[in-house]
Amino acid sequence: MRLGKFIIEESGPLQGRVRISGSKNSVLPIIAATLLTDKTCIISDVPRLTDVLVMQNLIEDFGGSTAWDQKNERLTIRNTNINKTEASYELCAKMRASFLVAGPILARMGEVRVSLPGGCAIGTRPVDLHLKGLAALGAEISTEHGFICARAKKLRGTNIYLDFPSVGATENIMMAAVLAQGQTIIQNSAVEPEIVDLANFLSACGAKIRGSGTDTIRINGVDELHGAEHTIIPDRIEAGTFMLAAAATGGDIRITNTVPDHLRPAIAKLREANVQIEEFGDEIAIAGGGQRRPIDIKTMPYPGFPTDMQAQFVAMLATTRGTNIITETIFENRFMHIPEFKRMGAEIKIDSRSAIIEGVEKLTGTQVKATDLRAGAALILAALRAEGQTEIHDIYHIDRGYCAFDEKLRNLGAKIIRIDE
Ligand code: EPZ
Repeated sequence: MRLGKFIIEESGPLQGRVRISGSKNSVLPIIAATLLTDKTCIISDVPRLTDVLVMQNLIEDFGGSTAWDQKNERLTIRNTNINKTEASYELCAKMRASFLVAGPILARMGEVRVSLPGGCAIGTRPVDLHLKGLAALGAEISTEHGFICARAKKLRGTNIYLDFPSVGATENIMMAAVLAQGQTIIQNSAVEPEIVDLANFLSACGAKIRGSGTDTIRINGVDELHGAEHTIIPDRIEAGTFMLAAAATGGDIRITNTVPDHLRPAIAKLREANVQIEEFGDEIAIAGGGQRRPIDIKTMPYPGFPTDMQAQFVAMLATTRGTNIITETIFENRFMHIPEFKRMGAEIKIDSRSAIIEGVEKLTGTQVKATDLRAGAALILAALRAEGQTEIHDIYHIDRGYCAFDEKLRNLGAKIIRIDE
């Protein structure tokens, strides 16, 4: 894990063009899904992220072979000889999304042993809905010494109702169900674009899936899957982060390789705040120079306002005159960045699940730390217009989910340098 910090000087409004990379939250489940077949899979638009490296190492730890052409963002995977069913603790401890290997390994090998994911800064993040789904498909589940064990000679299709539209649980159950006997119906499933991208990849491998993107997904199990070529959808959260970079610095940015339909809530909220946004096919132009208006935000499962954009909006609202209220309903502890913003002079009060932000004229630079990848990105956005110099520590969080973030920002006029410690 590269320790290090960013040093950021007060910069002018950001100007220019930036191309969005492939989606982290789409490529991680899709790499896990390649474990379902012994044929070759070629994945394009794979972003250079440390989380992708962890997933690639997990695949190889199970006996799979991978070739990552980082320059052309292409990852080739062939899982011919899976020779173990236990996921390495060290790798699982690095990234919660490692738990997404559970469904595929169980479906392919008849058993799997994965360490119970640790909590992280934003919450306890249980996996009870994942396990409820795998058990419903006929797996025998046990927990021993911090590991989850699941066994099933053959998974059987069934009806599963998710108490909460969990993204990870929907993905794990979908990946297990594609090789189960008979039909599985997942009700109250997550409808995020990343679910649709995973379903499209699985269908390209020969799976029979209908309804992805709605709250009811129907899967008819098949005996085996073949390989496929697939291009990852653009990262809607990276795109949203650059939209906020324009809004928070009063700049003019043209973002390319986007799917505006995946960004409806962020676009609506920015327009409500009087930020000018225009769409041109897969490009979005943002002009953040106008007089901003205060807004209220409530995070919800897709297609509601995404929790992964909450911290980035704080970076803008901290200097938006008036009273702004953000309510976080998805994670119980996703305000760890608020004390860091307060160190920069933001006036924010937390009242249970809401942050009440009184916009101030200007923030001031100081030393802060990233508490999760979105918080880290948000602090950078705030630092760009803060008076003086800001040091952001623990930037490994940012490298997990943003590909060449400081480079892309420098190309837009940001005064940001990375110091490796
Ligand atoms: C995915 O996490 C994303 N990560 C998260 O992005 C994102 O914030 C989250 O979905 C919500 O959109 C990846 O896709 C790799 P959930 P996931 O299961 O699957 C509770 C980022 O910044 N829950 O939808 O873990 C859970 O505690 C990351 O890129 C259960 O109670 O999210 C949480 O409160 C952060 N039991 C809520 O549901 C379960 O079995 C949402 O979790 C599963 C989840």
